[in-house]
Amino acid sequence: MEVGAFSLFVVLCLLTSSASAEFSAKVGVNFGQLGNNLPTTERSVELIKSLQAERVKIYDADPKILTALRNTDIQVSIMVPNEIIIDISTNQTLADQWVHTNLVPFYPDTKIRYLLVGNEIISSTTKPTWLALVPAMRKIKNALRTHRIHKVKVGTPSAMDVLQSSFPPSNGSFRSDIAGPIMKPMLQFLNRTKSFFFVDVYPYFAWANDPNNINLDYTLFQSRNITYTDPNTGLTYTNLFDQMIDALVFAMKRLGYPDIRIFIAETGWPNGGDFDQIGANIYNAATYNRNVVKKLTAKPPVGTPARPGSVLPAFIFALYNENRKPGQGTERHFGLLYPSGKNIYPIDLSGETPLSEYAPLPAPENNNPYKGKIWCVVAKEAMRGNKTELAAALSYACSQGNKTCAAIQPGGICSRPDSLVRRASFAFSSYWAQLKKAGGSCYFNGLAVQTNKDPSMGCYGLFKGE
Ligand SMILES: *[C@@H]1O[C@H](CO)[C@@H](O)[C@H](O)[C@H]1NC(C)=O
Ligand SMILES: *[C@@H]1O[C@H](CO)[C@@H](O)[C@H](O)[C@H]1NC(C)=O
Ligand SMILES: *[C@@H]1O[C@H](CO)[C@@H](O)[C@H](O)[C@H]1NC(C)=O
Ligand SMILES: *[C@@H]1O[C@H](CO)[C@@H](O)[C@H](O)[C@H]1NC(C)=O
Ligand SMILES: *[C@@H]1O[C@H](CO)[C@@H](O)[C@H](O)[C@H]1NC(C)=O
Ligand SMILES: *[C@@H]1O[C@H](CO)[C@@H](O)[C@H](O)[C@H]1NC(C)=O
Repeated sequence: MEVGAFSLFVVLCLLTSSASAEFSAKVGVNFGQLGNNLPTTERSVELIKSLQAERVKIYDADPKILTALRNTDIQVSIMVPNEIIIDISTNQTLADQWVHTNLVPFYPDTKIRYLLVGNEIISSTTKPTWLALVPAMRKIKNALRTHRIHKVKVGTPSAMDVLQSSFPPSNGSFRSDIAGPIMKPMLQFLNRTKSFFFVDVYPYFAWANDPNNINLDYTLFQSRNITYTDPNTGLTYTNLFDQMIDALVFAMKRLGYPDIRIFIAETGWPNGGDFDQIGANIYNAATYNRNVVKKLTAKPPVGTPARPGSVLPAFIFALYNENRKPGQGTERHFGLLYPSGKNIYPIDLSGETPLSEYAPLPAPENNNPYKGKIWCVVAKEAMRGNKTELAAALSYACSQGNKTCAAIQPGGICSRPDSLVRRASFAFSSYWAQLKKAGGSCYFNGLAVQTNKDPSMGCYGLFKGE
């Protein structure tokens, strides 16, 4: 008995150590490419190496990138685009072709290890695609089997909005509309294939939506004295990231899958953003990313309160600031690097540089809500740029909202002096003043920027910038 128990113990230890060697605490980077000023692919691969990233995730299967990564030690995650998921879900031939065309030519010389089916499908598409997701994952997995490729895990990244409740963490549960029809079969698939639940985790957005009730230091892994104890489990939390991950752990447990491993598909913090976006600055971004890397690369692994000691593999978002990413300003400021390739702040994704070795950071200037006025005007580069695009953006802005451009119609009180740039700035500000509460942004494909300086054209008083 005793000998048997002991050898079982040894076997378990061996299994555990080989499992953690296989998925050692490595941090990678997301290589998004929504910029019109980014370095070449070859230079990007050099920069990825210089950050000590051990993995890279791309949002497609760009053959140029997969070629540039050939014969490197960098593990790669590729992605099936959202648009073809419905077709793949019912057509094994199409799934086989996708794998044959996009993966097989590069494998195994390029260390492709993860094949993600779509990106944030539940958050960014409609119900027909949601329902096709798991069938498409199965078809892609079958295709890999047909090609005798066994080292590539199939998954799909979810945003935290798949959860209906996440507080306290023990109350974590999936949205009731997707729990039965989508999440349960997905967890069953991930369990059967020993894959991961890939999740995008942004404590930044949770804090920015509720900065009065959530402590910033707690969100940045900087708090020494603030803790939260879950009343149902007695587990004590020292940061928001762990709380969010454990909410997912409990949601999976609630559906009968307590053991599926979690992979952080994205996490990060914006180094800049719009005037009205709190806490988006270099100080916080460097602090968050360095601290999360330190946590994720700790040896032995620290895990989370619900899963102490577990390995959490991860990709930081993102390699570059991407100037053509739509949405609010923060979306264009998640990079570790400027498009020039220069670091926005020093960071070492291997976690080996002690935090004390980094030089002091510029003090944060927007950790409290912005109180001044803001307008939305034509960006400097757009004043010299393509007039056709600017005119199209102007007419789009005018077509939204109520009487958005009435004042610049002929005879309107702001119709003079007349110029395309002036009319566009008026239209952008007027559009934004009406629609920002409903999610409208001051972006217009990069043609618009926020300003806190009254453009002094008199008319801007019409929509009292906030
Ligand atoms: C499945 O996809 C293949 C390859 O694109 C196509 O030739 C075939 O017509 C599709 N089958 C169905 C039933 O749509
Ligand atoms: C637990 O989650 C449910 C929804 O699933 C919610 O109605 C309830 O308020 C949550 N409990 C707490 C204490 O927040
Ligand atoms: C935590 O410590 C900081 C400074 O060390 C102090 O300002 C703050 O009030 C403390 N918070 C709590 C909840 O004790
Ligand atoms: C799959 O589920 C079974 C039953 O809950 C569990 O014993 C096993 O550890 C799970 N495997 C993975 C990889 O999640
Ligand atoms: C301006 O943009 C339009 C629409 O995107 C495009 O068709 C046109 O070629 C561009 N003109 C120049 C000079 O770049
Ligand atoms: C436009 O006016 C209608 C009716 O007054 C109102 O319901 C709607 O919310 C307004 N739209 C905006 C963007 O202000």
